Amino acid sequence: MNTTGLKIAALAGDGIGPEIMREAIKVLRAIERKQKLSLEITEAPVGWAAIDQEGKALPENTLALCKKSEAILFGAVGLHYRDAEIPKEKRPERAALLQLRKQFGLFANLRPIKLLPALAAACPLHPERQEKGIDLLFVRESTGGVYYAYPRKTEEVLEVKDDGTTTQRIRRAVDTMALTTTEIERIAHVGFRAAWLRRKRLTSVDKANVLETGILWRDVVTEVSTQYPDVVLEHVLIDTAAMQLILRPSQFDVILCGNMFGDILSDVAAALVGSVGMLPSASLSTRRHGRTFGLYQPAGGTAPDIAGKNVANPIAQILAAALMLRHSFGLDPAAKAVENAVDRVISEGYRTRDISSQRDSKTHLVSTSQMGDAIAAAIV
Ligand code: IPM
Ligand code: MG
Repeated sequence: MNTTGLKIAALAGDGIGPEIMREAIKVLRAIERKQKLSLEITEAPVGWAAIDQEGKALPENTLALCKKSEAILFGAVGLHYRDAEIPKEKRPERAALLQLRKQFGLFANLRPIKLLPALAAACPLHPERQEKGIDLLFVRESTGGVYYAYPRKTEEVLEVKDDGTTTQRIRRAVDTMALTTTEIERIAHVGFRAAWLRRKRLTSVDKANVLETGILWRDVVTEVSTQYPDVVLEHVLIDTAAMQLILRPSQFDVILCGNMFGDILSDVAAALVGSVGMLPSASLSTRRHGRTFGLYQPAGGTAPDIAGKNVANPIAQILAAALMLRHSFGLDPAAKAVENAVDRVISEGYRTRDISSQRDSKTHLVSTSQMGDAIAAAIV
């Protein structure tokens, strides 16, 4: 395979984004040397960083770079304390991240969640509930549902009281949850294929007891399941799924969800494996010419409270880079080398603050950059 000059757009963004991106690039450079790859990594501003430099969250130059690239390595965007500075549709979460997902058709968001044995003490569950460990894959629909559908607005209306009289003007916010059979089918196929490659069990999450979208979701996923006779499908309501994730996470393998449910449940699951700072995410489009275009990011946010302090956990960003090597470039050995390096430094006891636990003896508290150095040095 031609592995020269793989073009990567690196958009670090806001908050802890730049610090963790620096470490991911450090690790990519280490794997590049070890495995004789050639990576063309070009950085560009996004989010508040881009608003400050160029007046918008996703400037034309940044978008042009993404279009020329084979993959996007993304940090994090959004600073809630600056929200009042700009109209809501121009804020980075919508104008940059959601826009990129939509623009590049990145409908399939994969979030692998694994409790490393050495991190068992960072898991909030009693060891008994950890059973044989936690190893899940979320397949989250990420270009549809309530994040994108219209109408979507906040309006002024007259409040109607129970007796039919109107009184004062109040504000009313509207979001719309909408999904088509096409959207459900294509994400269901991603879910079933992933399940087929793993333990052949797929849990589909919905709210079919209340929502129209939930009923359609369940129907379509059931229909698609007939094409995967080897995969056992179960349907679970979102509230039950949230509870069961905490009570018995090991019963799940691949969890298929709509956009918002997947957003929420994947953070719940991230807490189970120690920290959202450990959780990478791949947003993929349909495979074309043997390549999958993708955006790879940590699933956590910008964490403004710890930004600039060199304490954030860079592992989610580093594992996101590994997912990029695997899914966009087909470089499974390189991806594994990065994942093994992470496992190794964790088992050697390196811990950033979020995953350190007093129950855990023989660990060393390290900074963001020390963690990146250790992982880069552990690449073999
Ligand atoms: C995520 C994030 C985003 C989402 C936000 C930042 C828009 O929480 O990737 O999980 O909700 O999709
Ligand atoms: Mg989220």
